[in-house]
Amino acid sequence: MTLQQHLASPSPETRGGRLTIDNVSKRYGAFAAVDGISLEVPAGSLLTLLGPSGCGKSTLLRMIAGFVGADTGTIALGGKHILDVPPNKRDVAMVFQSYALFPHMTILENTMFGLKMRRVPKRQARVEAMQALDLVKLTDLTERYPSQLSGGQQQRAALARALVTHPKVLLLDEPFGALDKDLRDQMQLELRKLQQSVGVTTVCVTHDQREAMIISDYIAVMRHGKVVQFGTPLDIYDAPRSRFVADFVGSSNSVSGRIGKIDSQVAECILDNGDRLQVPASKHLALGQTIELAIRANAIRLAVDGQRTALPQTSETHATLAGIVAFSINLGDMVRYEVRVGEGRYFVVEIERQPGQLMIPNGTPVDLSIAAQSCMVLDA
Ligand SMILES: Nc1ncnc2c1ncn2[C@@H]1O[C@H](COP(=O)(O)OP(=O)(O)O)[C@@H](O)[C@H]1O
Ligand SMILES: [Mg+2]
Repeated sequence: MTLQQHLASPSPETRGGRLTIDNVSKRYGAFAAVDGISLEVPAGSLLTLLGPSGCGKSTLLRMIAGFVGADTGTIALGGKHILDVPPNKRDVAMVFQSYALFPHMTILENTMFGLKMRRVPKRQARVEAMQALDLVKLTDLTERYPSQLSGGQQQRAALARALVTHPKVLLLDEPFGALDKDLRDQMQLELRKLQQSVGVTTVCVTHDQREAMIISDYIAVMRHGKVVQFGTPLDIYDAPRSRFVADFVGSSNSVSGRIGKIDSQVAECILDNGDRLQVPASKHLALGQTIELAIRANAIRLAVDGQRTALPQTSETHATLAGIVAFSINLGDMVRYEVRVGEGRYFVVEIERQPGQLMIPNGTPVDLSIAAQSCMVLDA
């Protein structure tokens, strides 16, 4: 099947495989680099493994590729177990952070390489390589050597080389790590479009939460060799289950308190200084229970004291807390305030700033408005 036929194929099952990872572990001595991970990646979707350095992302990716063996568990692609299959027979392709292009080969030769290894006749390999290079918009540069390309172009060449064999799974390890910010932003969008048009099941590793939000259908947040939360980017952002995930994804405030009242819609959470917040009621909450909350800095509204009308008049259930601006920094289109509420409690609040609008000076009394919907109740 040529790349063109592959792209014309309507079924995601034939274009990318469903990837099933079941209870996979890898130990180095007594240390569990990957510790009993199970994940299901639907055919044609993009999963990001997100987590801090050393949490086991690359090890898991290399296990899917076949460069690292598993101590326990199984990995299946399109229903077929692959752990016993050598890497070059797995229908997977991996792009490394360093791209690993062959320096002595042109971009076209680099792209044809995988086909040559599979003994595809040269004429056909050339046609297919040109199609892959067309996908990543490199048809003008096929005779250049890698050293004659920019970082972004090398990245695209590496993608073409990976996609030319139409793998069922594409694996990317920190693919944008070597690029500067603007180029990284651009390549994230390009990857997303390319991945969706090709329909290849993709697993991407990153420690950049913003990148994970942009490119993913699903995110697995990892810590200490385990998956601590799996979901869509919106699930992960809107409903982090633990402090770790709330802090790792977006900037948030940590608050704990005790449930004072519950009705069908909202519950009241009493903080240790007696301040009260409204939180969404749920069957998991009980009167008197201590709960942990995370509140996004950009979900809190702020008005200078005495101008409460400046707060949007909504029908949302919300709490209003009185505070004093303690510190502020300008982020261009946003201002980040640290607001002291009562003795020693600080809320970080991020507010959009209109052009020409001045920052609120330190020491100014303000009201914070926190909607019940913005209080994310953590599991533990
Ligand atoms: N070959 C190895 N030998 C010993 N320890 C390893 C080896 N490979 C990885 N590790 C350890 O396993 C942990 C996870 O590594 P890795 O998967 O590379 O993390 P990440 O990609 O999330 O930064 C790290 O603590 C790392 O030092
Ligand atoms: Mg890594």
